[in-house]
Amino acid sequence: MKPLLLLLLLAVAPAGAQTDTTTMPEGDPERGRLVFGQCRTCHYPEPEVGHNNGPSLYRIFGQVAGKQPGFAYYSETFRNAQFVWTPQLLYLWLADPLAMFPGTTMMARGIPDPQQRADLVAYLKRASVRPPIEEQVQE
Ligand code: HEC
Repeated sequence: MKPLLLLLLLAVAPAGAQTDTTTMPEGDPERGRLVFGQCRTCHYPEPEVGHNNGPSLYRIFGQVAGKQPGFAYYSETFRNAQFVWTPQLLYLWLADPLAMFPGTTMMARGIPDPQQRADLVAYLKRASVRPPIEEQVQE
């Protein structure tokens, strides 16, 4: 097993009861929409906009990291990554992006506040759901 993958597994393993910093609080997508403002310089979750300075975040959960077609600026770390984005992993990563992946080209400071991170994750989940079919076909 690759050391990085092992590290990730350790990071998401349940920690001791009192010192548990890995459990994600309940998130609010409306608040998360505002938190996501700082990511919009580089990312959009709307499918029709696509990639920008950062890769599209449309339906990011469930995708293997660093593999989206058409995005040319992945770091070597992400190009070689072999993990799938889950809400829990994004929650942990965004606490301090450079701490988990020192080689990343994502120059973002991260979001230290656990509630804000949970809100952001809730927003990205919501933003990845397609509207009902009747809303899609309007001319
Ligand atoms: C200054 C531009 C910038 C900002 C701001 C930024 N990102 Fe990124 N993001 C990137 C780049 C560039 C990458 C590719 C990283 C790499 O390959 O190392 C990336 C990668 C990602 C990925 C992985 C995508 C994939 O296809 O694997 C996620 C998820 C992500 N960013 C979420 C966020 C969130 C959430 C925020 C706001 C807190 C944010 N980013 C802020 C530029 C940015």
